Amino acid sequence: MRIIREFKIRAKDFIHAGEGSMEIRNALKSLNLDAELVRRICICAYEAEMNVVIHGGDGTISMALDDTGVVIEVTDDGPGIDDINLALKEGYTTAGVEAQQMGFGAGMGLPNMVRNSDFFKIESEKDNGTYLLMCFKFDK
Ligand SMILES: Nc1ncnc2c1ncn2[C@@H]1O[C@H](COP(=O)(O)OP(=O)(O)OP(=O)(O)O)[C@@H](O)[C@H]1O
Ligand SMILES: [Mg+2]
Repeated sequence: MRIIREFKIRAKDFIHAGEGSMEIRNALKSLNLDAELVRRICICAYEAEMNVVIHGGDGTISMALDDTGVVIEVTDDGPGIDDINLALKEGYTTAGVEAQQMGFGAGMGLPNMVRNSDFFKIESEKDNGTYLLMCFKFDK
């Protein structure tokens, strides 16, 4: 599997927030993939990137693909997640007032990533950053 794209994500950088997932969208659009698949990947990439900006630390988002599908990995060195099961619940959020005023904080990002990916893995520990792996298959 070859890495196609990797982008840095800066914590709290709302000016550049979303640029990594935008680049991934552009890369996928040039590949002639199924539109519904691209839509699912873009939702997941965007939600994951925004979580790093809002809740995480500095990090990266990367996309790799081969003949079988697309893999998105997102890491950050932020505060991590204490209770992952709680974070995965619809409506659960720790977003502050500032993020809520920008329209974030519905607590739907992680549930949407689970729903829209074919395989989802999250690894996180309090004070030890967060790692997300999401896979998307070409043929199901
Ligand atoms: N990268 C991260 N680092 C630390 N905490 C995170 C990270 N990603 C998610 N979380 C925690 O998990 C919670 C749920 O995330 P989720 O994306 O589902 O909702 P949200 O970001 O709060 O709101 P929304 O995504 O709907 O705007 C967050 O409020 C935060 O507490
Ligand atoms: Mg979110």
